[in-house]
Amino acid sequence: MTLPQRVRLVEVGPRDGLQNEKAVVPLETKVALIDRLSEAGLPAVEAGAFVSPKWVPQMADSAEVLRRIRRRPGTAYPVLVPNEKGLEAALAAGAEEIAVFGAASESFSRKNINCSIAESLERFRPVAGRALEAGLKVRGYLSCVLGCPYEGEVPLARVAEVAAALDGLGCYEISLGDTIGVGTPARARAMVEAVAEAVPVERLALHFHDTYGQALANLHACLELGVATLDSAVAGLGGCPYAKGASGNVATEDVLYLLHGLGIETGVDLEQVAAAGRFISDALGRPPASKVARALAARVAA
Ligand code: HMG
Ligand code: MG
Repeated sequence: MTLPQRVRLVEVGPRDGLQNEKAVVPLETKVALIDRLSEAGLPAVEAGAFVSPKWVPQMADSAEVLRRIRRRPGTAYPVLVPNEKGLEAALAAGAEEIAVFGAASESFSRKNINCSIAESLERFRPVAGRALEAGLKVRGYLSCVLGCPYEGEVPLARVAEVAAALDGLGCYEISLGDTIGVGTPARARAMVEAVAEAVPVERLALHFHDTYGQALANLHACLELGVATLDSAVAGLGGCPYAKGASGNVATEDVLYLLHGLGIETGVDLEQVAAAGRFISDALGRPPASKVARALAARVAA
């Protein structure tokens, strides 16, 4: 069991974090947050979603966000795209990387993107094909890999099967989402082992929500299997509007503290990420969910 020497972090706060906020977050605040996160050295900052504004109003200004951010060389700014309409809009806004998002559970697929798993894969095929032709990178998300809010446990064979289908569309990486944060370490490891039989572990990422406080333990267990890309959200923001009860993503500050403590390189400055977390938490009017962020703030105040 060896841990990776370096881990790539995909910051999803500006998308996964903010999509769930009831109050509209001003465009300038989103842009400032993304710029702060890229300046902190994050190699990928998910910048928005080209989804229906009726379904997710908070992401309606994603094109403007993409236009206004200061694109830092070395940082990727992926955006979610559910269909060809979304792809058109993403291309027009200058996106260089998109992410299609499917699910391992039928009920969640219907609630989230209003179609079955099979239909979603058919919908993604031309989206991924056209994006690849245009020179974009395509990432694939797979939700409910450790449980579904509507169906409960999801068979690991099904998770592996849909991951393989996304891989077959040309996704360079499959991000495995514990959408409602129900996983525990042994199950998370078993899930990664099952998927790795279909998609090489080097092309897997983990996207764990922290609803039950297990995300860090789950990540640590899976790092030992060779996974070296992790999704997280500054200040522990996040949740999915179509996954009732789901809370935030694992906090970027907490993941950085864990990784750096293990001697794993990230190229990311924890203090700068924590400052970005205080910035967005102040804007939202609540303290960061990250324990590390709170500990660092208390140290600064002392
Ligand atoms: P639908 O209603 O079946 O779509 O929604 P439709 O094709 O029938 O279109 C209905 C209306 O939406 C039409 O407008 C379309 O033009 C418009 P109208 O004629 O009524 O005025 N429309 C769009 N507008 C803008 N951009 C688009 C677009 N597509 C259609 N791309 C659809 C299907 C997929 C569009 C909808 O269900 C949707 O937008 N879903 C997105 C839900 C979402 O964003 N969920 C959160 C992200 S996923 C997540 O958080 C999980 C993740 O973090 C991993 C994890 O944690 O597990 C990634
Ligand atoms: Mg998510």
